[in-house]
Amino acid sequence: MRISKFAYTESVDPSAIPQRKLYTGSTMPSIGLGTFGSDRVSAAQVAEAVKGAAAAGYRHFDCASVYGNEKEIGASFQKILCSGIHRKNLWITSKLWNDKHGEHDVIASCRQSLADLRIDYLDLYLVHWPFPNYHPPNCAVTSRSPNAQPYIHENYMRTWRKMEELVDTGLVRHIGTSNMTIPKLKLLLRDARIRPAVNEMELHPHFQQPDLFRFLLDNDIHPIGYCPIGSPGRPERDRTHEDTAPTEDPVIVKIAQRHGIDPAVVCIKWAVQRGQTPIPFSVHHYRANIEGVAGDEALNGEEMRSIAAIDRNCRLIKGQVFLWKSGQTWEDLWDLNGRITPP
Ligand SMILES: NC(=O)c1ccc[n+]([C@@H]2O[C@H](COP(=O)([O-])OP(=O)(O)OC[C@H]3O[C@@H](n4cnc5c(N)ncnc54)[C@H](OP(=O)(O)O)[C@@H]3O)[C@@H](O)[C@H]2O)c1
Repeated sequence: MRISKFAYTESVDPSAIPQRKLYTGSTMPSIGLGTFGSDRVSAAQVAEAVKGAAAAGYRHFDCASVYGNEKEIGASFQKILCSGIHRKNLWITSKLWNDKHGEHDVIASCRQSLADLRIDYLDLYLVHWPFPNYHPPNCAVTSRSPNAQPYIHENYMRTWRKMEELVDTGLVRHIGTSNMTIPKLKLLLRDARIRPAVNEMELHPHFQQPDLFRFLLDNDIHPIGYCPIGSPGRPERDRTHEDTAPTEDPVIVKIAQRHGIDPAVVCIKWAVQRGQTPIPFSVHHYRANIEGVAGDEALNGEEMRSIAAIDRNCRLIKGQVFLWKSGQTWEDLWDLNGRITPP
């Protein structure tokens, strides 16, 4: 493993991290640090982890206004930039929250994230969810917005036109989607002037989404994978009895033992080798995760095939709060039969 010469503690050399080439020709580090502290980890702790992760060799950070910590992370970015790391060597993502889809809100919301993060452009700005349905932070999964709407493509395109304007004005280098489905993406690809560079989606060994994954690669949209470890720290309200934990899967545990690494690191190595970009959240283990990606010992073909075979189609982030009418189930959000669920 190559070690960086400029970090103040021993760390991975960022140039040892594989880069993803996007359709624009830009490159993005193939592992990022997630920054959603959920209910458990304070903004200050996440901001501290951002600084520590930069020292450990991370150059990619996955932020969002709704995580409620962009101001604190902005102070960390300022320190990171003062330490001699150039802005052009960082990849910073933020996301437009669901109550800001309105034509007059998109640019203002992006500007607010830029001000909070103390930077003057974003490398990537995502529409966080395709539904404009606001719900308060930390609400129960049964909570519904009285004004909840289904996916209405014309409205999504109005939001997307503003996202395109952000690229035109140089506030944002790339735009992308999150939590999309194949039929929704087909419409967006038909109508977009600036195509999405990435789609951020749940991806881990127990939820591999092979069809969407293939569709993205075929259309030159890069998959960024959230909950790459199976989100062991997610809030109680987001858990159901059917949920499984990829880090407890005997196949993952056995591979971890063989390599002498944590099962979580196997999940990260698998993600990078498969071709997605994992964004593991961590305030304690971020160093092990990036070392796993930079390490010389790759998972072999048989190990990769054995992980491909443990997909359980187990979606952990179901999105119930976005449902727009009574009598629906979370599956209605994900267009499972290949058509956008009718209003
Ligand atoms: N676009 C979207 O809609 C969306 C949705 C969900 C999440 N996200 C993004 O994806 C990121 C990651 O998702 P997530 O936080 O839900 O789940 P995750 O990354 O799968 O899991 C994070 C948890 O795993 C633990 N962990 C990390 N590395 C570990 C290791 N090597 N060994 C043991 N435990 C380890 C962390 O604990 P420690 O902190 O103690 O290390 C933390 O509790 C979020 O932070 C956010 O940026 C995006």
